[in-house]
Amino acid sequence: MLLRILVPILNPLKNGGIRRTAHVFTRSASSLSSQAIMYSKQGDPNSVLYLENSQILPALKDNEVLVKMKMAPINPSDINMIEGTYHMLPELPAVCGNEGVGEVLEVGKGVSSFCPGDWVIPAGTGFGTWRTFAVSTQDMLRKVPNDVPAISAATIMVNPCTAYRMLKDFVCLHEGDIVIQNGANSAVGQSVIQIAKEWGYKTINVVRNRPDFDQLAEYLKGLGATHVVTEEFSRSHQMRDLIKSMPCPPKLAFNTVGGDSATNLLKHLDSKGVMVTYGGMSKKPVVVSTGALIFKRVRLTGYWNAKWVQENKENPELVRMFDDLFDLVRERKLLPPSSETFSLSDFKLAVKSSLEGYKGSKKIFLMDDSSS
Ligand SMILES: NC(=O)c1ccc[n+]([C@@H]2O[C@H](COP(=O)([O-])OP(=O)(O)OC[C@H]3O[C@@H](n4cnc5c(N)ncnc54)[C@H](OP(=O)(O)O)[C@@H]3O)[C@@H](O)[C@H]2O)c1
Repeated sequence: MLLRILVPILNPLKNGGIRRTAHVFTRSASSLSSQAIMYSKQGDPNSVLYLENSQILPALKDNEVLVKMKMAPINPSDINMIEGTYHMLPELPAVCGNEGVGEVLEVGKGVSSFCPGDWVIPAGTGFGTWRTFAVSTQDMLRKVPNDVPAISAATIMVNPCTAYRMLKDFVCLHEGDIVIQNGANSAVGQSVIQIAKEWGYKTINVVRNRPDFDQLAEYLKGLGATHVVTEEFSRSHQMRDLIKSMPCPPKLAFNTVGGDSATNLLKHLDSKGVMVTYGGMSKKPVVVSTGALIFKRVRLTGYWNAKWVQENKENPELVRMFDDLFDLVRERKLLPPSSETFSLSDFKLAVKSSLEGYKGSKKIFLMDDSSS
């Protein structure tokens, strides 16, 4: 049987986007060889993962779509799922990975929403993106534009969406208002900086100290950060002076660390300010002083992107969010996180590197060399 495969050719566009021209060639095959990073029991990601080879038969059911995965990142939530500590867990054995981008190769007879050549990302959590090919029902996929860098499409669904929603849904901010965040060099933090800049908000960005702090601060300022400070600085008198020098204290705080770092963010929040917790990288609980609750009347809340997406499938705001984010990507106002790519066969090294602190870049699986 002859299977048609669309191969993208990359042509840079003036606006920094990429135009892809579909060139068709044919391949003789009765089935496709596929590889996936899987786990059959939860536990230490350094030991429970394995590479599985399988064959995908070319015959699709009516509502199925054959996708060739291009790129998929390693996010902390992927790791937490493997460890069994995430709030939503797949049935085992499972393919790892929750986000990534792929290209549609073939569609079943009943599929009207996708065509060969379309780019797709998972519509929800638990898709299993660390693999070369996937056969999926059409309801599990979302079409995304294919005139953007593949890495932006592969990393848009979790972190930029989280940043977008947290900046929009909790406090009515006005131009010049200030947002403070810890873990500011994380992929979410980098998206917060860029979207906040675009929407006219200032950001105070707290990161852990490191030998190359100045370089990191320059990088984040290049993305649009107003101030970048270390955790130690943020606990000093100089931090109070910095906040006093600004027109008003921060109205909104984003916490992805917990422990002392979160308690400290609250000290800098304005009266009636809101702190949104979306991660717990230190694995320590959020501790809030009684005074902050009574006298400053701060409000504490949380955000979970997977739940928001699940509950807003039919909400036009979901489409608007992706449109806004991809517009920013095309205008080069929303860059993907700095990254390091790995082939699937190097999964042990990729996962081990992703578990190290101060890692400096997102680890990304590259399944298709034409995507790099
Ligand atoms: N609630 C949601 O819907 C949602 C959505 C997206 C992400 N998240 C969460 O947000 C967090 C960041 O995700 P990401 O993909 O943006 O991360 P990422 O790019 O992999 O970056 C990880 C961040 O965590 C920091 N970090 C690592 N270990 C730490 C520790 N022990 N103490 C303090 N900071 C530590 C890192 O700082 P260093 O450089 O100093 O190591 C870095 O800033 C994760 O917890 C993730 O699960 C939640």
